[in-house]
Amino acid sequence: MKVLGIETSCDETAAAVVESAGQRRLKLLSNVVASSIDQHRLYGGVVPEIAARSHIESINPVIGRALREAGCRWDDIQAIAVTYGPGLGGSLLVGVLSARTLAILHDKPLYPINHVEAHVYSAFITETGKELTQDYRVSPKRPDFPLLALIVSGGHTQLVFFKEHSDYHVLGKTTDDAAGEAFDKVAKMLGLPYPGGPGIEKLAGRGNAEKYNFPKAKTAGKYDFSYSGLKTAVLRTAQKAIGEDYTFPSHQLAQRLSGGQKADIAAGFTQAALELLVDKTVAAEREFQPKSIVVAGGVSASPKLRLLLSERLPDKKLYFPDSKLCTDNAVMIAALGYFKAGSTQPASPELLEIVPNLSM
Ligand code: KG4
Ligand code: ZN
Repeated sequence: MKVLGIETSCDETAAAVVESAGQRRLKLLSNVVASSIDQHRLYGGVVPEIAARSHIESINPVIGRALREAGCRWDDIQAIAVTYGPGLGGSLLVGVLSARTLAILHDKPLYPINHVEAHVYSAFITETGKELTQDYRVSPKRPDFPLLALIVSGGHTQLVFFKEHSDYHVLGKTTDDAAGEAFDKVAKMLGLPYPGGPGIEKLAGRGNAEKYNFPKAKTAGKYDFSYSGLKTAVLRTAQKAIGEDYTFPSHQLAQRLSGGQKADIAAGFTQAALELLVDKTVAAEREFQPKSIVVAGGVSASPKLRLLLSERLPDKKLYFPDSKLCTDNAVMIAALGYFKAGSTQPASPELLEIVPNLSM
């Protein structure tokens, strides 16, 4: 069975084909991602109108390429899976309307996919097709249930316990900013480009994490996260480091901070931000004793996060998708679509609506 996935929830226009390859195995056949990130960098974050327009321009070529690279014609595709939320309304509409049209035109069942839930399914790819132009590091063994998932991206930060496919409950989530969002905002203060995660982590490697003491957030819920206090602490620390008070504008900080100060702030922030994720994941592992732990979403590409988790959790339980599958992609949409196709009824292609504020 081959499934075409379509993803347009934010700034990436993505399409991919996955194929079931025998019992419990899932093969990646193509993964095409066109990002409008260069157009957003100018503004320091994603601009919804620019993202939506860019999806309109890219969607047809991206889907065409995903089919071509997978060596497929429409006859070979058994199902279409598409992200219907959460995300930017204008962006989601382009993907959902395309998928609906294609489902009607080619008479394929259509499966609506929750983007956040789908991040976990990047870890369910167990092999890759020979035709792929890039190498992927995938685990030949797929995660087992019960499964604990740390989903950590620019829009979401949550711990979810899955008893089975589609049978889960959210243990906790961020009460304010997502972890990736905090990386992006701190990067902006330090004069680094959007998205900030990779740049902050590189800078942090040259800094002393102990120089500034950043607080770990306390939250009411045992497995909840909070990043707005840490972000403010970074701002105040940076203002103090250059001898200014809280009225000094954040957008002028980068030009006044020295290279050393920036590196130390990046190191202290990275440590506090990642340790919060690790502490809660370790606590949830102790309480719920999952068979597998999947770490997914853009921030899970962080080598430092992977290292910290590996040091504190049993190695055999941990699943980190290839970093190219951590950030937004349609492979994860197709992968979850494959499991949905085996267990749920398809949506009506005439009626499927977007749900921008969809939660898990
Ligand atoms: O999953 P994703 O591509 O998009 C959302 O669904 O949000 O995640 C993007 C986020 C950005 O905030 C980016 O700064 C962060 O992932 N990110 C990282 C790293 N690479 C990407 N954060 C920390 N360390 C990294 N190495
Ligand atoms: Zn995402």
